[in-house]
Amino acid sequence: MWRVKPLDAILATAEKKSLHRSLGAFQLTMLGIGAIIGTGIFVLTAEAAQKAGPGMIAAFIIAGFVCAVAALCYSEMSAMVPVSGSAYTYSYAVMGEMIAWMVGWALILEYAVAAGAVSVGWSGYVVGLIENAFAIDIPNALVLGPMDGGIVNLPAAGVALLVTWLLVIGTRESAAVNAVLVLVKVSALTLFCVLALPVMKMENFTPFAPLGFSGVAAAAASIFFAYVGFDAVSTAAEETKNPQRNMPIGLIGSLAVCTLFYILVASGVIGTVGAQPVMDAAGVGLRPGSPELTAACQSLADTHVVCSKEALAWTLREIGWVQIGNLLGLAAGLALPSVILMMMFGQTRIFFVMSRDGLLPSGLSKIHPKFHTPHVITIITGVCVSAFAAFFPVGVLADISNSGTLFAFAMVAIAVMVLRKTDPGRKRPFRTPLVWIVAPVAILGCAFLFFSLGTDTKLMFLIWAAIGLVVYFAYGFRNSHLGRGIIDVPELAADAPPDSVPPMPGAQ
Ligand code: ALA
Repeated sequence: MWRVKPLDAILATAEKKSLHRSLGAFQLTMLGIGAIIGTGIFVLTAEAAQKAGPGMIAAFIIAGFVCAVAALCYSEMSAMVPVSGSAYTYSYAVMGEMIAWMVGWALILEYAVAAGAVSVGWSGYVVGLIENAFAIDIPNALVLGPMDGGIVNLPAAGVALLVTWLLVIGTRESAAVNAVLVLVKVSALTLFCVLALPVMKMENFTPFAPLGFSGVAAAAASIFFAYVGFDAVSTAAEETKNPQRNMPIGLIGSLAVCTLFYILVASGVIGTVGAQPVMDAAGVGLRPGSPELTAACQSLADTHVVCSKEALAWTLREIGWVQIGNLLGLAAGLALPSVILMMMFGQTRIFFVMSRDGLLPSGLSKIHPKFHTPHVITIITGVCVSAFAAFFPVGVLADISNSGTLFAFAMVAIAVMVLRKTDPGRKRPFRTPLVWIVAPVAILGCAFLFFSLGTDTKLMFLIWAAIGLVVYFAYGFRNSHLGRGIIDVPELAADAPPDSVPPMPGAQ
């Protein structure tokens, strides 16, 4: 179970592929912003307010910082091992099969569960838009999951299935579509700031951290979701001109732009409609996703941002910009499906690589004869994502997704340090600056955020990891190609689907 896949075998792929280096710092930054801005800022701002109050501003900064250091480690690995499978593949080469399996297993949380979260976020905005723009009252039972006071979130499940279909028929997002959607998202957030910031009231910022530092830490752990997606930049290393210069600019640039927007948007929300958490009689903040908060929100009847499923549109309507609030809803409705697409794409490609390595049944990596996509695994992924989206609240899904992502990021930071020791001479197109400081800080930061997640989330992660180990020993351990002496490079197979993981909109 400690067997490693030789790095040279993995790298054979990269050499054969030898993609054209065409991306500069600007394209990389666009790529990053396209993958990053999504449900996190549009929806989870409300969740962060419930956990931290105005202190959510600090939460955005903490989470952004942890992502920045993790991103620097990620880029060294991805520039060095620019093949499918991201953190899973790196771990296979460095820390052995069992750890690689656990990372791949955790990436299922990162990608599939995140796709579910973004689908639920999309549903909140689209339902809000329909209700406000057309004065149609849609029954909660059909647009909210059971933990949110409904029965099934049909729009969320529907959008996940629609994206599945797009992926099965081989849809990819072009650079042009990515650029347009980035423009839509950035314009929506800019408009929000322009309208909200001038009418802020400073008294709304006090008390700043009503639930103390633990509240800010909990909010940071949740809002980390808002930054996930930057790994799309690091996987484009192979196609980047002068990666040593452009990768850090692209990564840190897109994270910096997003952090700036997030802080301004969060300030706009806090300063205009206030962001104090909903407390119980004893002055304890109610837990997001808890029945108590759901009940409290029903009686608050839309008077508190924390209770909104479309925090930013709701805020604009509250401060008198009803139609612009609807327009922002439209922007979210248009742009979020592309984030779902990227997440699900990433998931299918990771499953694909794991299945081609023999750790999952080979039937899963079957390629559709006409569309040349791994349709079996795409459909299975899509059905699961759609089920998550139908029955779970966005905050719960985002937190679970974060637990997997944090684990994977920490493993990548470890892998970078291990490889510096075990294989110092290997060519590194990008080297993490101050790696002996940056990598440990990334690991500690990920651990800090992981332990700041709710107990239920941590428990879910442990259960998921335990199931993963059972599956590994029941199946992967015995069927692994590496274990059976086959060192193959699945991406080289004639019928391998295109692209690496995560997807690279704009890379072609
Ligand atoms: N960062 C992405 C989002 O917030 C996942 O939707």
